[in-house]
Amino acid sequence: MKVTNLYDLLAPAYGKFVPPLTALTVKRAVKRVAAGKPRNIVELGVGTGRTFPELKKHCSSCVTAVDISGKMLVQARKEARLSGSQAAMVKADVLRLPFADGVFEAALSTFLVNLIPNKTVPLALSEMVRVVAPGGRFVIGHLDVESSILRSLWHLADDVIPETVGIMRPIEMNDFYEDAGMRIIREEKIHEGLGTRVTTLMKVRG
Ligand SMILES: C[S@@+](CC[C@H](N)C(=O)[O-])C[C@H]1O[C@@H](n2cnc3c(N)ncnc32)[C@H](O)[C@@H]1O
Repeated sequence: MKVTNLYDLLAPAYGKFVPPLTALTVKRAVKRVAAGKPRNIVELGVGTGRTFPELKKHCSSCVTAVDISGKMLVQARKEARLSGSQAAMVKADVLRLPFADGVFEAALSTFLVNLIPNKTVPLALSEMVRVVAPGGRFVIGHLDVESSILRSLWHLADDVIPETVGIMRPIEMNDFYEDAGMRIIREEKIHEGLGTRVTTLMKVRG
């Protein structure tokens, strides 16, 4: 099943089940992106727009929210109405972002990179880097399971029947950042669920 179809299917239930499991990670990621005081932010793989209430405290109309799933964006629009966010919604693939070079001061994504196949991670990061201005900030939150046994089992399940894990698997992102033109400013392990990581980075090239 394609990731779009899967998240179209999951969209109505996602907001009920997933946010409580990953709330600390998302809150921390929003805090880190807002700390850079960017004048605008692109959020990639926005899902149901669960970041909007917190992001609104930073600015209400500076967010452009991107997702590949139309149904997830329907949920995000509902969340924007409820929270009074003025975020703009764009249906697009992170691998082909419909924005000019360097138009954003920051990019945020939580639990998106876990869905991107390893061989396309460099392309996803290069698109992120392309749309962010030099010196801009990235905050990437992702699943980062510590147990190597669990990681191996997860990768096996993901290879065989990806739908069982939401086409999601732990990923070692630090192997990719430098080549993409990003430098790590801060790394935080978040102890919730099976383990997550929030990485704050700066654009140094690209
Ligand atoms: C696990 S959800 C995370 C949603 C939200 N960021 C959160 O933390 O709850 C991943 C989201 O990324 C979207 N997505 C997956 N692949 C994508 C791609 N290539 N481009 C844009 N969005 C994508 C999915 O549709 C889904 O809404």
